[in-house]
Amino acid sequence: MKVEFYKHSISQADIDNAVKVLNSPFLTTGETVAEFEAKFSRYLGCRHAVGVTSCTAAMQLALLALGIGPGDEVITTPMTFIASANAVLHAGATPVFVDVERETGNIDANLIQGAVNDKTKAIIPVHLYGQLCDMKRIKGIADKHHLAIIEDAAHAVEAVRDGVKPGGLSDAACFSFYATKNITSGEGGAVSTNSEEIADTLRKLRLHGMSKGAADRYTKRYEHYDMELLGWKYNMDNIQAALLLNQIDNIERNLARREEICKTYEQAFHGVPGVTCMKVLPGSRSARHLFTILVPPDKRDTVLGRLQDKGIGVAVNFRALHLMSYYRQHYGYKRGTFPVAEEIGDSTITLPLYPKLTAEEISYVIEGVKHACADCG
Ligand SMILES: Cc1ncc(COP(=O)(O)O)c(C=O)c1O
Repeated sequence: MKVEFYKHSISQADIDNAVKVLNSPFLTTGETVAEFEAKFSRYLGCRHAVGVTSCTAAMQLALLALGIGPGDEVITTPMTFIASANAVLHAGATPVFVDVERETGNIDANLIQGAVNDKTKAIIPVHLYGQLCDMKRIKGIADKHHLAIIEDAAHAVEAVRDGVKPGGLSDAACFSFYATKNITSGEGGAVSTNSEEIADTLRKLRLHGMSKGAADRYTKRYEHYDMELLGWKYNMDNIQAALLLNQIDNIERNLARREEICKTYEQAFHGVPGVTCMKVLPGSRSARHLFTILVPPDKRDTVLGRLQDKGIGVAVNFRALHLMSYYRQHYGYKRGTFPVAEEIGDSTITLPLYPKLTAEEISYVIEGVKHACADCG
């Protein structure tokens, strides 16, 4: 048997929407992107959404829109995909890491204050695996020190914690529609914000700082454009937007199915020696993007190998980012600096999680894990 690590939920209706765009003369950023942005911001309950090509681009542009650049420091977590810190470097600023909570893997709000200095301009909380960070506490710290908050919500479109959604307490929230995300267009991203000014700047920054996009020139008589600031080429196109439009309608149903699968995994692994699950806290609705287990660090790679030998697709989300060669070489990070992130990074294994998983596949994964972890206790 083979269990894929991920299968997307793109439906025939999504494909039909993309074909409609392909059969039209206008492929780049236009009406379909605007339609997607309106629908996505309604789902999130925020005022604006701006479609871009990735979450990495979204975070870079959000930092730039908030005026963050060279000489500035941005606090984030080492337990994340490299994009969260790389975006800070792309904006010309410096990422500063603080360690994470053992139970959730999210940034430890107790440690943020200690990393704030005169150069600190923003915090990027990353909502790991789909669970929101403690945004109320983070907002309190940010307000006290006049810091911006840019959320890395790549995993967390559907998340709610203590009544707060992504974007609810921040200047901007950044989303990914990468190939394995809960909704996907292969590649893609968005920024949500309640600020009209930030949204306007983002629309310019995603397209070279131009005063008019292609849609303006296409739908009206030709008008000259100006370049008002130095932007990038990160605009979402109509094909990506068409693929995403209807996925928003199915987002809650798909989350309910992933929740069910996670509960089945959690019950099955409860009490298995050497296997631990991450925790979803009371008052928190996780977007259930990734399901990870922790095994003893000296056994992790062996277990990974055994699962793959059985045809089970696995991943590691994530090895602690400060220990990547680039960050070690350029910033002098060493093992021992962020012990909790390192412990998770050395122990974690991600299992298949997506609505199309069958009951038979779920049982196969569970039995596979129990078997592969037989000597982990
Ligand atoms: C936590 C996190 N942040 C950011 C990203 C980057 O997203 P993208 O590939 O859309 O740039 C990812 C991607 O997988 C991620 O897992």
